[in-house]
Amino acid sequence: MRLQNQVALVTGSTQGIGRGIAVRLAEEGADIVINGRENDEQARESLEQVRALGRRVCFIAADVGDVEQCHRLVRESIAQMGQLDILVNNAGVQRHAAFLDAQADDYDQVLNVNLRGPFFLAQAFARHLREQGRGGRIINNSSVHEELPHPNFTAYCASKGGLKMLMRNIAIELAPLGITVNNVAPGAVETPINRELMNQPEKLASLLQNIPAGRLGRPHDVAGVVAFLASPDAEYITGTTLVVDGGLLWNYSEQ
Ligand SMILES: NC(=O)c1ccc[n+]([C@@H]2O[C@H](COP(=O)([O-])OP(=O)(O)OC[C@H]3O[C@@H](n4cnc5c(N)ncnc54)[C@H](O)[C@@H]3O)[C@@H](O)[C@H]2O)c1
Repeated sequence: MRLQNQVALVTGSTQGIGRGIAVRLAEEGADIVINGRENDEQARESLEQVRALGRRVCFIAADVGDVEQCHRLVRESIAQMGQLDILVNNAGVQRHAAFLDAQADDYDQVLNVNLRGPFFLAQAFARHLREQGRGGRIINNSSVHEELPHPNFTAYCASKGGLKMLMRNIAIELAPLGITVNNVAPGAVETPINRELMNQPEKLASLLQNIPAGRLGRPHDVAGVVAFLASPDAEYITGTTLVVDGGLLWNYSEQ
């Protein structure tokens, strides 16, 4: 087990990719802080799955779109678990809105959760590590849309593009502290965020034609890469994005 005696905070880990990451890091020996906005049935299911692996685990409710709640989330994680070694900025939201119709509320919601939260969580986490004189890992769950345009999801693409530059900048600033910072960029993954897509067979079939691997990603495809980035094998990797997309991003066809 590569992550024994480490504690990982995984934001938005009550379902989907976040839950997959929490469980995979626990399989590697890490103790886990599960986070979501509220302590619901989904949160309890994530807790149970980690607990069944014999790891220490707690749930902390916090809206990562709110800076004060980000600070509290890091403070309470350390208070409950004794330390933090790995931060996975996974929580994310998307809103469908044509650029000409998008409202300030769409923009604020998406940018606050997907970019502002990771910024201030990473800052609070890095300050903690600096105080302790220890290194650590920051891994952001970005998207192929940190590179690839997605019409009608401009706020989402702006948030993920911003997350790419946040990652690159702080990788440089935090490397002297022994903190690595990287992104994982999933393509299309089977999770509740894509429920609508998965219920539309025609749309799904057309998307699958653009995925050379011929299938959607699954949470464990992403979680395995996060576990690698958190492991000693990735000690010298910082400031980069690992794309996990079955070939979607660079796929093109000549008519
Ligand atoms: N599913 C995909 O195809 C896909 C592709 C690329 C990137 N991603 C990214 O992966 C991440 C996870 O996506 P998913 O598909 O698992 O989504 P999901 O909707 O299934 O899960 C999102 C999680 O984030 C939590 N969350 C949402 N807003 C929050 C907030 N304000 N504070 C705290 N927690 C909050 C939710 O409770 C949930 O646990 C997101 O950042 C998303 O942008 C997903």
